[in-house]
Amino acid sequence: MEQQPPSMRSYGRHLLLCNHGDCAAPAAAEALLRQIEQWNRDVGLNKLRNPHRIKCSLVDCLGVCQKGPILAVYPDGIWYHSVDSAALERIYRQHMIGGAPVEELIFHRLYPPGQEPAYAPDVRGDEPPALDADQLSPAGVSDNRAAGAALPTTGSAEADQRRQQVRRKAQKKGLVIVNTGEGKGKTTAALGVMMRAWGRKMKVGVIQFLKHETARYGEIKAAARMGDIDWISTGDGWTWTSADMDETIARARHAWSIAQERIVHGGYDLFILDEFTYLLAYGWLDVNEVLAWLEANKPPMLHLVITGRYAPQNLIDFADLVTEMREIKHPFREQGIRAQAGIEF
Ligand code: FES
Repeated sequence: MEQQPPSMRSYGRHLLLCNHGDCAAPAAAEALLRQIEQWNRDVGLNKLRNPHRIKCSLVDCLGVCQKGPILAVYPDGIWYHSVDSAALERIYRQHMIGGAPVEELIFHRLYPPGQEPAYAPDVRGDEPPALDADQLSPAGVSDNRAAGAALPTTGSAEADQRRQQVRRKAQKKGLVIVNTGEGKGKTTAALGVMMRAWGRKMKVGVIQFLKHETARYGEIKAAARMGDIDWISTGDGWTWTSADMDETIARARHAWSIAQERIVHGGYDLFILDEFTYLLAYGWLDVNEVLAWLEANKPPMLHLVITGRYAPQNLIDFADLVTEMREIKHPFREQGIRAQAGIEF
């Protein structure tokens, strides 16, 4: 049977970021890569069918070895140095979206200006990029995005309607996800999302409110082996085994202040508040105050996952996605089989 290859177009530009480590910390290049990938997703420049799509790669030493992070743009043959997040945003808006290199940030050109190799989408006569730089929000590009299909560029009512339809369809937001209920699997499901996000090179973090800070469950060991996952355990054990309730409550409140700091300043794409519902259900934190704080402070594109039993109705109303785990059968209840390593912890 004849096999059809997947439909795709060659990419418009390839960005190379040095992460060798002599010109800048490898983490700086990795952070720039994540930012570019996020913006690419936001504006549809990651879509295989988009002729303007951007490929981005971390590469070993680009041979400059000073004033990093170094970013090289091809086919233009234009090299930028000292690329921090502000410079990157300018380069992305002006050069990647607008097609005009940021002259003052360039330190090397392979070709004289105007003699760069032809840009393939221009040669093929592809439609211009869907967005221009003015449509990008100052805080990033997350508020304006296209689905990757080229948007019509004329001002007709039909074109405007189609543009709005595409935007509606492509709307994204950082979700508030709640896993609650009496059954097992609340944390496990959250960690499944964590693994998925980690696989997408998103920045992920977990704070466990009640698990003992010295706990070394299978999932904590897995996160350590995976790397790049911030894992914070702050509890002194489960509430009903706590010898000192005042200390448990104080630790839980302190953990919330840590979580608040991470939510605002951590730069996460996904953050998990494991067993957080207990702090609300037991009255250690005021639900309305917590929700008001999240409303005011949660970054718009941050996905937040909250787990635990007894999720208050206010939290359920506030969340975008709520799942209730319901127990149908349990090996301990029916057969007396205790929790087993690798399955339950
Ligand atoms: S170490 Fe970055 S260019 Fe050589």
